[in-house]
Amino acid sequence: MASSEPEVHAYPLKRNILASTRLNFNHFWLKSMTGYLVHPKINTAKEGFRLADLGTGTGIWASEVAAALPNARIDAVDISAEQFPPEAFKPQNLHYWVHDCFKAFPAEHSGQFDAVHMRYWLCIVNDDVAEKLIENVVTLLKPGGYLQWFEFLPYTAHVRGNAEGIPTPGCDKLVELYKKPSAQSTYNWVQSRPQLFEKYGMSLVVEDRIENQSHYMQVATQSTFLGQAEYYKMHPEMEKLSEQVAEEYRNGVVVDIVFSCVVVRKSTEAH
Ligand SMILES: C[S@@+](CC[C@H](N)C(=O)[O-])C[C@H]1O[C@@H](n2cnc3c(N)ncnc32)[C@H](O)[C@@H]1O
Repeated sequence: MASSEPEVHAYPLKRNILASTRLNFNHFWLKSMTGYLVHPKINTAKEGFRLADLGTGTGIWASEVAAALPNARIDAVDISAEQFPPEAFKPQNLHYWVHDCFKAFPAEHSGQFDAVHMRYWLCIVNDDVAEKLIENVVTLLKPGGYLQWFEFLPYTAHVRGNAEGIPTPGCDKLVELYKKPSAQSTYNWVQSRPQLFEKYGMSLVVEDRIENQSHYMQVATQSTFLGQAEYYKMHPEMEKLSEQVAEEYRNGVVVDIVFSCVVVRKSTEAH
């Protein structure tokens, strides 16, 4: 059936124990690099502070925030409950629920949150659906509420550590894939988040650009390796590429990428 609505693509990664391990591995790496969970510009000390983590996955970020802020209420939302931890391991102030964030949120959540957190939506969002998602997410925020959004910037991918100029076909191919993963994928929205938010009454508070220190390059390479392994069945050529990249890593050459944490704030005037 023909439709004028842009299509939201299915989640391309897996949700099994290895995929959950990768998300948690990435979480601790990113936390070490940034030094924060909630950006210090966001005042979490407010009485009755409410925060939603959208696309929460294993809920690791939301769990750590809930444990660190016992007086806050944290909502962790995902389209699938498959990676949520068992009820027994959940902090009391953390509430999981299932929702497709491209669809309107239930009215009871409208304008209820002091802050919303999003991380790693790159494999789900293309340019044609980014605004649809942002417009919907903004409805959750109170006037003056914050949105913190963390992604890596695919166009910053580059080969690092090749002082000798040796051929690195694996790393070169990987850089190419980051910059143009497929005909349907365009990543311009990631770089333009601050401008996109302006249209929806959100102004930029800060953008932190985070670069890997050398000693994290092995973690970055292992994370890429784990992510690629989830594609092997669909794209068998990936396995060969991963092996090539791992071999080049042993010679001290890696693909590096810059991360960006954008914090924007909704106008304090209620609309
Ligand atoms: C790459 S994972 C990131 C998980 C988590 N944010 C983190 O940083 O560890 C992306 C998550 O988004 C979820 N997701 C995909 N499409 C979604 C949608 N339309 N609405 C809500 N969650 C979605 C997936 O199920 C997955 O858990």
